[in-house]
Amino acid sequence: MTDTTELNALEGRLTEQVEAAADLKALDDIRVSALGKKGEVSLMMRELGRMTPEQRQVMGPALNGLKDRLGALIDARRDALENAALDAALASERVDVTLPAPREPKGSLHPVSQVMEELAVIFADMGFAVAEGPDVEDDFHNFTALNFPPDHPARDTHDTFFMQAPEGQLPKVLRTHTSPVQIRTMMSGKPPIRIIAPGRVYRNDWDQTHTPMFHQVEGLVIDRETHMGHLKGCLIDFIAAFFETDQVEARFRPHHFPFTEPSAEMDVRYERVGDAVKVGSGDRWMEILGCGMVHPNVIRACGLDPDEYQGFAFGMGVDRLAMLKYGMSDLRPFFEPDPRWLAHYGFSPLLQANLATGLS
Ligand code: PHE
Repeated sequence: MTDTTELNALEGRLTEQVEAAADLKALDDIRVSALGKKGEVSLMMRELGRMTPEQRQVMGPALNGLKDRLGALIDARRDALENAALDAALASERVDVTLPAPREPKGSLHPVSQVMEELAVIFADMGFAVAEGPDVEDDFHNFTALNFPPDHPARDTHDTFFMQAPEGQLPKVLRTHTSPVQIRTMMSGKPPIRIIAPGRVYRNDWDQTHTPMFHQVEGLVIDRETHMGHLKGCLIDFIAAFFETDQVEARFRPHHFPFTEPSAEMDVRYERVGDAVKVGSGDRWMEILGCGMVHPNVIRACGLDPDEYQGFAFGMGVDRLAMLKYGMSDLRPFFEPDPRWLAHYGFSPLLQANLATGLS
């Protein structure tokens, strides 16, 4: 074909076909038969090469024009057909706004997060701020400044995870407790100090009540006239608030920690009610936390004068507190991602401790 009359006839025919295409499938068939690889227009474009220069000068632009117009026409027809399909769907489908909405699974706080928030709220009421430190600690903050001598057996009994160290350097550790935050706080600020430090800690342990990573909350108070009475009062008030009772009976058993002197473990009277514990009654004693008056060597290691400043510290396992309060018997599911387990213990996003409004 070498003249434009025929081309005009072809354009007329294709235009009619496009305009008559009844649906998207028919339209696409037309597109392929005209503009596809072996389509009529494409084949004619291929013939351009065999024409004389004069013919090509006429037919080249004519064919390109046809191709562009046809492409635009097909696009417009496709839009029209798609709109028509949508209009038809809108006209024929009805939305029943009275149907109940499908239930979305609701997220909720993990018990550990919830207990951490509860603790932060309770201690905030007593004037404590929240402090944080790194999970990967150095020997100084995790042990030395806390009065662990270099060969102290506690360095092994902690079953510490050591990091690889460059030649000649002490290895860093995954912190074995939150007590290094005491050191960081005393070295970076001035007394009076009242902080709690919640966070992850690591020990090489794995059974029903031990996981290699678990959570602690540390507490530290440093001031000029802090004494053991403050420690006891503060911790008894805390237990009352956390276990929601005003009948706390506590016992402070002598203990040993390198970083406190004297040191104690605090037990509270309790009884079991189902899986949960009821604090304040019963004839059993449960160990809740470790505590003591901050050792003068620790205060000195942080650059403070122990004759001027004293204070107390305490540390407790958050996961264990959650288990006790909410009657959970195995620690391991705490760190396995099964939301049914959370739901079983009734953790709801609506029943949370809130830093602004207190416990609800
Ligand atoms: N760091 C101690 C532990 O992990 C707990 C503790 C903290 C004891 C503060 C006394 C004072 O067991």
